[in-house]
Amino acid sequence: MTKARKTPEQLRSHRWYGVDDLRSFGHRSRTAQMGYTASDYMGKPVIAIVNTWSEINPCHSHFKERAEEVKRGIWQAGGFPVEMPVMTLSEPFQKPTTMLYRNFLAMEVEEVLRSYPFDGAVLMGGCDKTTPGLLMGAFSMDLPTIYLPAGPMLRGNWNGRVLGSGTDTWKYAAELKAGKITNMEWKSIETGIARSAGHCMTMGTASTMTSAAEALGLTLPGFSSIPAVDSRHAQYASLTGKRIVEMVWEDLKPSDFLTDKSFDNAITTVLALGGSTNSIVHLIALARRAGLTLTLDRFDELARRTPVLANIRPAGEFLMEDFYYAGGLSALMAELEDLVDTTQRTVNGMSVGENIRDAQIYNDAVIRRRSNPLVEHDGLAVLRGNLAPDGAVIKPPAMESHLKLHTGPAIVFRDYNDMAARIDDPKLPVTAESVIVLQNAGPVGAPGMPEWGQLPIPEKLLKAGVRDMVRISDARMSGTSYGACVLHVSPESFVGGPLALVRDGDLIELDVAARRLSLLVSEEELARRKAAWTAPKPRFARGYGVLNQLHVLQADKGCDFDFLEEPPREQAASTADPEIH
Ligand code: FES
Repeated sequence: MTKARKTPEQLRSHRWYGVDDLRSFGHRSRTAQMGYTASDYMGKPVIAIVNTWSEINPCHSHFKERAEEVKRGIWQAGGFPVEMPVMTLSEPFQKPTTMLYRNFLAMEVEEVLRSYPFDGAVLMGGCDKTTPGLLMGAFSMDLPTIYLPAGPMLRGNWNGRVLGSGTDTWKYAAELKAGKITNMEWKSIETGIARSAGHCMTMGTASTMTSAAEALGLTLPGFSSIPAVDSRHAQYASLTGKRIVEMVWEDLKPSDFLTDKSFDNAITTVLALGGSTNSIVHLIALARRAGLTLTLDRFDELARRTPVLANIRPAGEFLMEDFYYAGGLSALMAELEDLVDTTQRTVNGMSVGENIRDAQIYNDAVIRRRSNPLVEHDGLAVLRGNLAPDGAVIKPPAMESHLKLHTGPAIVFRDYNDMAARIDDPKLPVTAESVIVLQNAGPVGAPGMPEWGQLPIPEKLLKAGVRDMVRISDARMSGTSYGACVLHVSPESFVGGPLALVRDGDLIELDVAARRLSLLVSEEELARRKAAWTAPKPRFARGYGVLNQLHVLQADKGCDFDFLEEPPREQAASTADPEIH
C-alpha cells in the first residue's frame, strides 16, 4: 500500500528543529555553531550516515571517501547529512571474536538512531559482523534505512596465482605444515593476498551477508557485488544518499518490505551463492528483530531445492571480482527467478522482479546456469540427534564426499587452549577415522562463538596426506573455510548441552543424507554423565562480558540478547518506540 508523502512538519527531526521552544532554540543555535544556516536543514530530512570506518578496519578503509559521496547525494536530493561514527567490528583484529560485539554494535546503532534527530539512515558496513549488527539495530528502530555495502576487495595475487581471502590462507598454511611450500613463499603470500580496500573477496561471511542484505531489498540493486575500489562503487554511494532522502518522504521503512518471503529470498540467494554458514545465525537474528519467525528447519527445506550456482571459493573456483564481471547478484537472482518471490519490495521502491528484469549472465563459468549447477542442492544441511537436540549445521559441498556417512571414535578437547596444546602431539591417538570434538567454544562458553570450527587436522595426519576429517564443535566457522566441520551445535557444551558429555573413544555417527548426528552411547550412561556434570565457572565478573553470558541466546535462535528481540508483529503495537522529548 502506498503511503501519503510526509510533510516537513511530519518529519521526526521537526521535534528537534521546527518547534518554537527553549530546547529547539538550543538545537538551532548549536547547529549554527557548526556553520550551518536554517536553510541547510530546516524542513529537510536529517539523514544519519552510520559509519563503521576505523583505522583498524582494512575492509572499510575507503569509507571516509564513500561517506563524502553519500553526503553529496543527500545534499543534492534536499536532505541534511550527519555522519555518525559507530564501533567498527574488524574481523582480523578484534579478540576473541567480532561476534561477541555484534549485539553491542546493534545496540549502539539502535540507540544512536533513537536519541538523535534522524529521519532516515544510511548504514555503512561490510566486514563480516558489521552487516548484521547495523541491520539488527536499524530494524529495531525502523526508520527509513538503506544499506551501503563496502564491496569486495580485488583478487589476491602471488607468483602469477590468484589468491582468495581466508580460503588460500588455510590452504597454504596446511601446505606449509606439510612441507610443500617454503617459509619464504609463505612470507610472500602475506603481502599479496589483500591488495585493496574492501571486504574479503571469497564467499565468506562478508560477501554472503552483503548479498543477503541486497536480496532482502535493503541496497540499491546490484550494489553488493561491485568491487570496493571500482568507480561505480563511488557512484552508487552517491545514488544511495539521493535515494534515502526520497525514502524518508515516502516513509518507506524496513517493516514495510521485510516479510517471511523476503527472508526466503535471502536464504535462497545465500544457498545459491554457496554462502557462509554464519549467515544462518545472522538471518535468524535479523528475522526475529523484524518480528518474524525463522527457524533452522527453513534453511534445510530451502537447501533441498536450491542449486549452488556461484562458482566462488571456497566451494568453487573464482572470486567476487569475477562474479561482478559475470553479471553479479542481479544475474544470479534472475537465474533463480522461479525460486524467489519477485513481488517483494525493495528500497528503490521497485519489486525484486523489476530490479532483475534486464539482468544477464556474462560468464556462465562463474555464474552457472540452472542446467549446469555447481551443486544440485543441499548447499547446507541442518543436523539433529542426541548430540545436537536443537540442531547443528554442516556445509556438504565444502567436505570430502566419503565423510558424509561416517562413524568414528571421538578425540575430545575441553577448550581451545587444550586443543592448541595437544593437537600436533605426535603421541595423540588420532587416525583419519577419528572425530575431533571441541567443547566450550559456543556463544557463552568461548565466549562469542568464535570461528574456531574448522578444527586443525593434526600435523602427523597432514604429513600423511589427510586433508579432511569429521570435526564437531559449538563454534562457528569462517565462510572462507572448508571441511567436514559440524558447527553451531545447540545447546552448547558450556551450558550443559550433550556435547559436554562426549569422552575420548565414544563413537559418533554423522549421516548427512539423514540429517543425523548421533553420539552412540546409551541413554543410561549419558544420564549418569549429565548428573555428574558441573557447570564451568562464569568467564566474566563484570562488564559487557557479563551482559553476554546472562542474555545471549543459543545459535539456533540467532545469538541475539534476549531483551533485544522484537515481539512477534501482531503484538508489536503495544510495545512501540516511546516518544522522545
Ligand atoms: Fe573484513 Fe574478511 S576481514 S571481511
